[in-house]
Amino acid sequence: MAKSVLGIIGGSGVYDIEMDNARWETIASPWGEPSDQVRRGEIGGLPVVFLPRHGRGHRFSPTTINYRANIDILKRTGVTDVVSLSACGSFREEFEPGRFVLIDQFIDRTFAREKSFFGTGCVAHVSLAYPISPTLQDLAEAALKVEDIPYARGGTYLVMEGPQFSTLAESHLYRSWGCSVIGMTNMPEAKLAREAELSYCTVAMVTDYDSWHPHHGEVDITSIIKVLKGNSENARKFVTRLARDFPREHPRCRVGSDTALDFAIMTQPDQ
Ligand code: ADE
Repeated sequence: MAKSVLGIIGGSGVYDIEMDNARWETIASPWGEPSDQVRRGEIGGLPVVFLPRHGRGHRFSPTTINYRANIDILKRTGVTDVVSLSACGSFREEFEPGRFVLIDQFIDRTFAREKSFFGTGCVAHVSLAYPISPTLQDLAEAALKVEDIPYARGGTYLVMEGPQFSTLAESHLYRSWGCSVIGMTNMPEAKLAREAELSYCTVAMVTDYDSWHPHHGEVDITSIIKVLKGNSENARKFVTRLARDFPREHPRCRVGSDTALDFAIMTQPDQ
């Protein structure tokens, strides 16, 4: 069994985390330019690799992030489990700003991104019915509980292209589909993590009610930034607790995230 290496992808508001022996390292990828260097270190003795999704200084929009390079460099650093920290809007009254939602499903409405490592030369179709590792999610939930961070387990995340927010009609439409939250980044990230056989778990941090809520008006970036600060503080506590309590041997994923390619490759080996 592999030793655990915890990967953390930090979204809006999370551009660094506290670690021991921390250093920024450049990792090259054949898939192009990743969002930034990775920050490597340890928390409670566990190796941790952090990547700011938008780059330090928030330089990449959701569409211009090179998701393939990002997942590739995490894989190259030996990461086994990836926790994606992501700001999101909420479609549910009870998922108020400040709450963390452990997502279990996605609807991918993005259309301007490279979404696979497998194009020509080698073709693979991985299973994605269960895009989140429930095994990793159990560990995330335990950390949220210990730190007393308000959270909910279960929810569907609508991934939009952005960078503009949704129209009111779209906001109502996604709610009518049963979506719980909305964001701009977790696809194709989750798809690529599965292709890379990494366990993946999203912690969606609610910043706003998008535009549907009759008493909250339309979403704007100023109100989001106000909530981000408190969320980032809780995100830091969460990551520290998660890493300290994380199993030292990579916990095998119950839905097979870590063996996703075993029966997925179509191309014959000698082709
Ligand atoms: N990220 C944070 N809030 C959002 C919203 N309402 N829509 C899309 N992405 C978001």
